[in-house]
Amino acid sequence: MPANVRNQTQPKTISERANRLSPSGIRKFFDLLANMEGVISLGVGEPDYATPWHISEAAVKSLERGYTMYTSNSGIPELRELTVKYLKDKYNLDYDPYSEILMTVGVSEALDLAMRAIVNPGDEVIMTDPCYVAYDSCVILAEGKPIKVPTNQQNSFEVEAKDIEARITDRTKAILIGYPANPTGAVMPRQKLLAIAEVARRHNSIVISDEIYARLTYGVEHTCYAGLPGVKENTILLGGFSKAYAMTGWRIGYAVAPKEIIAAMTKIHQYTIMSAPTPAQVAAIEALKTGESDVVEMVEDYNRRRMVIVKGLNDIGLFCYEPKGAFYAFPSIACTGMTSEEFSEKLLMEEKVAVVPGSAFGQCGEDYVRCCYATSLADIEEALTRMGRFVKKYKK
Ligand SMILES: Cc1ncc(COP(=O)(O)O)c(C=O)c1O
Repeated sequence: MPANVRNQTQPKTISERANRLSPSGIRKFFDLLANMEGVISLGVGEPDYATPWHISEAAVKSLERGYTMYTSNSGIPELRELTVKYLKDKYNLDYDPYSEILMTVGVSEALDLAMRAIVNPGDEVIMTDPCYVAYDSCVILAEGKPIKVPTNQQNSFEVEAKDIEARITDRTKAILIGYPANPTGAVMPRQKLLAIAEVARRHNSIVISDEIYARLTYGVEHTCYAGLPGVKENTILLGGFSKAYAMTGWRIGYAVAPKEIIAAMTKIHQYTIMSAPTPAQVAAIEALKTGESDVVEMVEDYNRRRMVIVKGLNDIGLFCYEPKGAFYAFPSIACTGMTSEEFSEKLLMEEKVAVVPGSAFGQCGEDYVRCCYATSLADIEEALTRMGRFVKKYKK
């Protein structure tokens, strides 16, 4: 059913806005395995590490001292200052910690706020297919219209500026990019980002760049979109602590953007959230002050796992291009002739390995499954053995 058509079987008590959202293809799938034992999960997209203890401890100590109140709507000033300094040191960005940054409940909230702050009903937001599951839902909740740009394995799932430009209309409000990418692990070369910046400039379009995986690249440099020449005034950069510092459950992220946009986002945030969780903000301060070596260590470890899984998937006959970022492998399952949902369900039932059907991320994900390799090498190797058995049985 198209997203904007009302489903008559849905209860009238529920708003059309909520009814327009489809249940997440990921959640639906994880409900299936909730009661199964002995499953190796390559499903959930989060680090298998606990947050480094010195980061957690900073929050514990602050709680012991009774630091449990709301903070400023925008976030603790020290955290804003440190985040802005981090962005300056890493990417040479210049943002004002008092007017151009908002601490949020993860990038999830920042995404939602960005859409609600800039999208009018009927406005179009261009994004890739496949893409992170929340992207189109956030646009739909803001009463906008997601417009998809297909990407493919031949192009290593990098989006081409000309394909974006071909979809620009007079309703285009923003281009939403997310690299390193979930679910593909793709990283965008600087040249291609520059070409997107040129398209955005020509059409006066805002670019929202979700860089939650910025620290997770392997053998290539991450280019921060907001650091490209001349883009700052039309860019909303989203970042967070979940993936790099293994802090998914703390729920802390941020948006940096020109002050008018941050002011609009802060208005919505102050009425809906008030302030990001105080202990999480304290932990994030510690992460920025002393967490760098943890990030480096974890990234080295993800890289070892990445190499094992990519080689292993190719060896068992599931072609997998080499992802250069995030912690996902996105192998093609076309050789089995199954849909990605069929493949994932059968693999779970027969071999107890959980992967996510590529279709959960858009039509262009249909011939693929997402395998998160942020899990132990032993589990990755066992999962590959099981998947190898499975593919041998079903390969056409
Ligand atoms: C591309 C992308 N953006 C945003 C998020 C949400 O991150 P956070 O935990 O900061 O809300 C995720 C989580 O998986 C993601 O993959």
